[in-house]
Amino acid sequence: MIHVKNEEEINGIRKSCELLAELFLRISEEELISEGVSTKEVDLFIESFIRERGGRPAFLGYRGYPASACISINDEVVHGIPTSKRKFKKGDLVKIDTGINLNGFISDAARSYYIGENPPEHVKKLMESVKVAFYEGAQKAVAGNKLSDISNAIWNIARKYGVSVIKELGGHGVGLRLHEDPFVPNYGPPGRGPVLKAGMVLAIEPMFAGGAGRVYTKKDGWTIATLDGSLTAHYENTILVGEKEVEILTEL
Ligand code: MF3
Ligand code: CO
Repeated sequence: MIHVKNEEEINGIRKSCELLAELFLRISEEELISEGVSTKEVDLFIESFIRERGGRPAFLGYRGYPASACISINDEVVHGIPTSKRKFKKGDLVKIDTGINLNGFISDAARSYYIGENPPEHVKKLMESVKVAFYEGAQKAVAGNKLSDISNAIWNIARKYGVSVIKELGGHGVGLRLHEDPFVPNYGPPGRGPVLKAGMVLAIEPMFAGGAGRVYTKKDGWTIATLDGSLTAHYENTILVGEKEVEILTEL
């Protein structure tokens, strides 16, 4: 069942999402995602920001997940566990995925970062592709459209850029719990699935690979990486389905 949020819930979710947008802004301003910084340092920064502002890290303890953020590098797509042993190196493609529980309302977003000055053309294109795909998909999140209209719009961008969708992973309902119905695939034909209604809150999150897009889970039981070792990018926001327009809640 897809939960349609009421006004009070939407207001709460909006505040949680604004705080998450602010967190990503702070991460950029501090130039935190830089050479030599460990993934653990980033995780601790994220955790303290969230707690100082009266929230709780939504990922911490979720299905036993041991940190506040997922930090995945290069061939790793999602759920990379922060550690003091892993430091960013020049040329790394880093994905930071985190969420906040603020007064019971959950937000979820992810960004990709390149370590260094000028990413090579193929990296630039991969990073651009997930962002463009997010916006194209999000534009379809209006009342009356079908869920897979979002999926199809994302897929079209992946094909246009010549990158692969990681089919095992996708977006999801969010807001009162971290993962709610429905699953939002990043590929497929349009016009399928449930009709979207104003008040639905979704995390739309294209995850693309430069190579084949097949993935496996690493020995830590969490980190998902590409089988062929190809680079991946991720871009995610929590959005609110509107009557006429989508509202992107985790952007300021
Ligand atoms: N944003 C992640 C997702 O939608 C949530 C990760 S859950 C965690 O898949 F437990 F890994 F944190
Ligand atoms: Co998510």
